[in-house]
Amino acid sequence: MSGGYDDRGNRDASIANPQGMGEAQPVHEGGHAHAAPGGPFLIGEAMTGGYGRGADILHACTIAVERGEIAVIVGPNGAGKSTAMKAVFGMLNLREGAVRLDGEDITELSPQARVRRGMGFVPQTHNIFTSMSVEENLEMGAFIRRDDFRDTMAQVYDLFPILKEKRRQAAGELSGGQRQQVAVGRALMTRPKVLMLDEPTAGVSPIVMDELFDRIIEVARTGLPVLMVEQNARQALEIADKGYVLVQGRNAHTGTGRELLADDEVRRSFLGG
Ligand SMILES: Nc1ncnc2c1ncn2[C@@H]1O[C@H](COP(=O)(O)OP(=O)(O)O)[C@@H](O)[C@H]1O
Ligand SMILES: [Mg+2]
Repeated sequence: MSGGYDDRGNRDASIANPQGMGEAQPVHEGGHAHAAPGGPFLIGEAMTGGYGRGADILHACTIAVERGEIAVIVGPNGAGKSTAMKAVFGMLNLREGAVRLDGEDITELSPQARVRRGMGFVPQTHNIFTSMSVEENLEMGAFIRRDDFRDTMAQVYDLFPILKEKRRQAAGELSGGQRQQVAVGRALMTRPKVLMLDEPTAGVSPIVMDELFDRIIEVARTGLPVLMVEQNARQALEIADKGYVLVQGRNAHTGTGRELLADDEVRRSFLGG
């Protein structure tokens, strides 16, 4: 079992949990064979499918993130970025393709089961409970945990100090940037092994966007892989180890953030020249 040591009782545990769910839940339910090392940590590979019985939205679409890296998905509105994220999280029935986490095929697992396996997902919309307090939102995030999650909450408050200040306030009363911090904090409360963010900077000012990116980089540096969709393509590719440009449900360009930023076609078509 790779990286399976038990960090139970480690008070200094990082907010990231790259070694496993630790005190949360056993990672290997149901006797699945564990995963060979190597390959991306999380991959939705050659995914084809759509919503219900509707037409396919994704066409052999692949997105992935490696251990310790930030991967960014960009592309025009309606390209299928959110759909690809939902597919990786198990919210879509794929007609073809597979999703693998740490080498294990999880294509058939429910979203809830994926959370237990270590996936933290912040959807693009409706990602907080607006009528609940900030702290109640974080507590909701810890729903799968049976252990004491106060240390993790303290770590979330260290990462986003404004949330500690506003912990008794209804989350719906917060600014856009603060609400996104609540949403990310909520996802971190499970101590995920990988963090998926769909447009974490939507609707915030450039200054707040920079701050959020800094926090995301900080989280990634603790060893937590981050797979995120961003509409601020240029800024996002600047912090990306790997970038995916999706167009009409297909992979149009893939490379390191740097390669995509330097690619003439990508610049002309997606970065405004
Ligand atoms: N819940 C849904 N049911 C049916 N079609 C959807 C749903 N969500 C998105 N779509 C369609 O899927 C396509 C891709 O949408 P989406 O993944 O949200 O794009 P993006 O996130 O890149 O803007 C669009 O044509 C959109 O209308
Ligand atoms: Mg979207």
